[in-house]
Amino acid sequence: MTNRPIHIAPSILGADLGRIEAEAERIKASGAEWVHVDIMDGHFVPNISFGVNMVRTLRRLMGEATLDVHLMIEQPDRYANEFIDAGADCLNIHLEARHQSARTLEAIRQRGCRTGLAINPATLLKHAIPLLPLCDQLLCMTVNPGFGGQPFLAEVLPKIREAREVIVRQNYQVDITVDGGINNETAARCVGSGGNILVSGSFLFAQTDLTQAVSAMRSAATAANVSG
Ligand code: DX5
Ligand code: ZN
Repeated sequence: MTNRPIHIAPSILGADLGRIEAEAERIKASGAEWVHVDIMDGHFVPNISFGVNMVRTLRRLMGEATLDVHLMIEQPDRYANEFIDAGADCLNIHLEARHQSARTLEAIRQRGCRTGLAINPATLLKHAIPLLPLCDQLLCMTVNPGFGGQPFLAEVLPKIREAREVIVRQNYQVDITVDGGINNETAARCVGSGGNILVSGSFLFAQTDLTQAVSAMRSAATAANVSG
């Protein structure tokens, strides 16, 4: 259960990048309030996706949508300013990357950008807890980062539940994002455990009617929130 607003964040990695303008229109019309942008550097993860230019392009194309930028890069502290200048609304940095997470989160916050701390499936919640006061969101990876289209790791669910409990107990204003293998069924399970921002790439973009897909995911998530 969560008392935070539920948002659906289509992940641009799952879109047809050859038709980026058309895909942006499709997302804008779909009712999704957020767009998730995966930046991969080929070092932190074994894959290279896109960089600052993609964020700049999406800023121009996406109007008011919240641009949620997920930095799967080794040195997020070196590049944070560039992504903020390009129009990111939220920067998610990895606890496991080569930097001092607290310092990077503070620097991002100082620029007036939302802060997100991302943790891999194998990373224990206890390492993230001291950083929660510096975060607007905790991004719990539900696959190992690097590729779209991987199966959801259900063993992350207890960590999501524990994170929500800590956040409620401490009265922190922190959203929980889930990212990886999210479809209607896994979205419902994540929201039942306390997640409220649902990132979904391959599942959503595989549907012919994105508007219908976003609304079905929202219904599944809302129903799970009521029933726990
Ligand atoms: C994976 C990325 C995800 C990815 C999700 O490393 O962080 O955001 O786009 O894709 P799906 O929904 O296909 O698992
Ligand atoms: Zn992501």
